[in-house]
Amino acid sequence: MFLNKLSLRKLRNIKEANLTLNRRTNVIVGENAAGKTTILEAIDVLSRGRSFRTNKIENLLNNGEGSLYVGATVGEKKRKLEIEKEKGKTRILIDDKEEKKQSVIAEELAVQSIHPNSHNIIEGTPSERRAFLDWGLFHVEQDFKRAWSKYTKILKQRNEALKLRDQSEATWLKKLAPAGELISSMREGYLKGLQQHLEEVGRYIMPNLELTFSYEKGWDDKKTLSDALNDKKQLDADKGFTSVGPQNANIKIMLNGREAQ
Ligand SMILES: Nc1ncnc2c1ncn2[C@@H]1O[C@H](COP(=O)(O)OP(=O)(O)OP(=O)(O)O)[C@@H](O)[C@H]1O
Ligand SMILES: [Mg+2]
Repeated sequence: MFLNKLSLRKLRNIKEANLTLNRRTNVIVGENAAGKTTILEAIDVLSRGRSFRTNKIENLLNNGEGSLYVGATVGEKKRKLEIEKEKGKTRILIDDKEEKKQSVIAEELAVQSIHPNSHNIIEGTPSERRAFLDWGLFHVEQDFKRAWSKYTKILKQRNEALKLRDQSEATWLKKLAPAGELISSMREGYLKGLQQHLEEVGRYIMPNLELTFSYEKGWDDKKTLSDALNDKKQLDADKGFTSVGPQNANIKIMLNGREAQ
């Protein structure tokens, strides 16, 4: 979804700014420390409730101020999205109506930021790569959110039962496999699409590099999840948690046939 107008107040060095944006591309130019990155942070704060540059609201608040504000109108319908943040409190408005969940704004304004720490997707832990993938899926695949919360709920229940050595563990185990297979196939489909897109773009910007992704499911992929879970039944009972499944997945990134990490 594109941004029409963006307003920010009391963010870092910016007391107030109102911008009218182009729906396709915008270039922000200015002296060092003028506040260019702050504008990008504002968009991130509106979409995700936090900035890619800091997790601490104190760092974002214009010195001495108690709250900050970011507002925007988005898309053809010019829906109005607003966020006001102070320490320990967030207020979200959509078309002047109060909204409890940040995810509702995130659905209206999907943001993917590429920033100086973005290399963590490559160098960081598998969990950072999973989070990147899931964030994309959450926006692209309508059903992903529901599938994901279903899976995590079942996983939590099973782990709880394993810890307590409760009989109900077996029931949760049965439900876990189909829910986990669904997450896995959604992720694989998304990654395939991303790969195709990168191949097209890559021909222009990095013609000598061959970039490929492969999805590692988080269990022995010669087996179904159901079989893999059954194989680990005793181990999981001993350890008190589920040791295989999409919660352990990884994305292997290869550059010209070599692992990029
Ligand atoms: N909490 C704050 N209150 C007031 N000013 C702040 C706060 N945090 C940062 N600043 C200042 O805000 C200014 C804007 O920083 P920003 O990083 O957005 O600039 P920039 O235009 O991206 O600069 P560069 O060209 O160096 O990347 C800096 O001078 C910084 O010192
Ligand atoms: Mg900057």
